[in-house]
Order: sequence, then structure tokens, then C-alpha cells
Amino acid sequence: MKLQIAVLPGDGIGPEVTKQSVKVLKAIAHEFDHTFLFKEAPVGAIAIDQTGTPLPDDTLELCKHTDAILFGAIGDPKYDNNPSAKVRPEQGLLKLRKALELYANIRPVKAYDTLLSKSPLKRDIIKGTDISIYRELTGGIYFGEKQLSDDGDTASDLCEYSRFEIERITHLAFKAAQTRKRKVTLVDKANVLESSRLWRKVVKEVARNYQDVTLDFLFVDNAAMQMILNPKQFDVILTENMFGDIISDEASVIGGSIGLLASASVGDKHAMFEPIHGSYPQAKNLGIANPIASILSAAMLLEHFELFEEADLIREGVDRSLKLNITTPDLNTKYNHITTTKVGDFLEDCINNPKDTNMNFANIHLGQSTII
Ligand code: IPM
Ligand code: MG
Repeated sequence: MKLQIAVLPGDGIGPEVTKQSVKVLKAIAHEFDHTFLFKEAPVGAIAIDQTGTPLPDDTLELCKHTDAILFGAIGDPKYDNNPSAKVRPEQGLLKLRKALELYANIRPVKAYDTLLSKSPLKRDIIKGTDISIYRELTGGIYFGEKQLSDDGDTASDLCEYSRFEIERITHLAFKAAQTRKRKVTLVDKANVLESSRLWRKVVKEVARNYQDVTLDFLFVDNAAMQMILNPKQFDVILTENMFGDIISDEASVIGGSIGLLASASVGDKHAMFEPIHGSYPQAKNLGIANPIASILSAAMLLEHFELFEEADLIREGVDRSLKLNITTPDLNTKYNHITTTKVGDFLEDCINNPKDTNMNFANIHLGQSTII
């Protein structure tokens, strides 16, 4: 298969983790005889520094005319600490989502057996958790009208949703549930918000087309609690933009590290793949950033194009790296010499030598293996 992939590394640890995903995708292309063409473009704070805007026209054009986008991370403390900054890195990501109509953000959350002890949650509570969060990504309070009064003392953000916006992601969530445990939980705040009441009404209507899927409802405050008390009760979670943002960060704790959570943002024409973590500026260039979330996002990219065998090979490599403790320090208290690049090299090697199960654990950690 021939694919054009736009690579938008962005800020902070974005470039270093994305570099590992590109390396892994190149190994896949080589192994399976695909042609993946990568083209890099700036976005976020780095783009502001270079061009004055977080999403330069050239970057947007590239993304519009490519098969898929691999996104790193954006954000920089110099903007976080300045609430009056008019131009902000995050605007680049939001504009990209809106311009490409990437309305469904899919965030899988899984408890890996090998990592159960890394989560602050009890083993019995998280073991077996497998959730797919469907977060609406181009509407709601993120994109509603924003106002600041002339005296600067009153501000508002409008949360608005249309039937059309709710319907299209709801169909995707139900279709996903049909391939999983056949349950959709709508997370909303229908006891307070009019927009949530519209969500309930529309989702109930759409659900009639999917008789084999069970639909239930949770208020977001309760859902936040249930996520920690009993995450195994969830299969597909469907929710609006802001609630999805919050719930998915909370859910990342189940996996043991936010550095493991991948995501796909899809629309009818375009698709973008990115780790859910942010730019983690404190870790920039230290070699401690976990590249797995980005690499698993690359696996989701392959699945989007129905390259399942290829994606499985990446996932097998990730499982192996977790088992062998070839992980960055967020997951690894024992060996602190495993850098971002080394994890990427290991996964590349797993792809190049899929049948080689002869990797000697001791040698790997002594640095005597050729793969590290
Ligand atoms: C995410 C991020 C973004 C969001 C930020 C960077 C704008 O937190 O993708 O979850 O809030 O959507
Ligand atoms: Mg977020």
C-alpha cells in the first residue's frame, strides 16, 4: 500500500516520540513492502516562533492533501503562564481538528497484565479493563462563542451541539460496540445541561438502529467516580468534547502511565493519530519520554487502513517491551538507562525480526544486545 503521511511533531517531547513512530512505521513498510512517504510540517509553539501562527497555511494544506496525519504534542509553558496571550499553541490543534472535521476522537484504555502493579489503583479493580472512549471533538464548549466583557471581569464560553453533530459520532460509537462487548455508556450532565438533554434524546433515537447494543447513561460526576471504582463495567464510552477530555486523562491512570495512551481522531475525509499526552516540556530532550503512546497511535493509523497484521506486529512488540521491562522511567524503576530512542530501537528490531524470540533479557539490560 502507498500512503502519504504528514508528520507534525509539534512541541516539547512531541518530536522525540514522533521520531520513534516514524522509525517503527518505516520498519513496517520495509517488512511488508509498503511505501510510506513522510512529510514534516510545523505546528504549535514552534510554528508560532517560526511563522507567527500555530497552524501555518502550508501545514494545513499538507494535512488536507495527505492520507493520514501523525501528530506529536503541542504546548509551551511560556503560553500556559500567560492567560492574556492572544496566539496560543493549542489553537493550532483545535483549528486542525475543526478544519479537517475530525469529529470523533477514539481513545482506547487498556490495563496491561504486566503493568497492573504500576497503577495507583488496586490490581483487582483494573485487571481486564478494556474501554474505548468516543469523544466528540469538533463541537461543544471548545468551539462555542467566547466572550470577555470590556472591563475584563466577566467571561463566557458557549456549549452548543446540533443533532447532526451528535448523530454522526453516535453511529461510530455503536458500530464500534458491535465489534466489542456491545455496550455504550453515554456520559453527560443531563440533570443540569440542555445540551446534554439533546445528547440523550438523539443518542436514544440512534440506538434503535442497533438493537444488539445495550445503551446506558451516567452523569459525568458519577462516571468519574465509576471509572476508579469499577472501570471494568465500561465498554464504549460516548461523550461530548470537554467531558471526554477530562474522563480520558482520568482513565489513563488505569494503564499505569499516560505515556501509553494512543488516540485516533477521525472524520469522513481525514484521520489524525496522536498520543493523548501533552508536550511534557520538563522532559524535553532528556530521553525519558515514553514513545509507546505515539507508537500505538501509529498502530491505530495502520488499522485505519485495514493493515491489521502490521498493527498487530507493533502491538506484539509493545507487549514484549513491557514484559522485558524495556521501557522508559515512567514505567521502569529498575533500569533507568532505557531511553526513548532505545524503546523505539527495540520495537524496530521486533518488527525486523518478528520470529526472533531469542532475545536474552540479561544481555538486553546489560546493554550487550545488538538491539540496544
Ligand atoms: C487533548 C488535549 C487538548 C484538548 C489540548 C491540548 C487543546 O488536552 O487532546 O486531550 O483539550 O483537547
Ligand atoms: Mg486532554
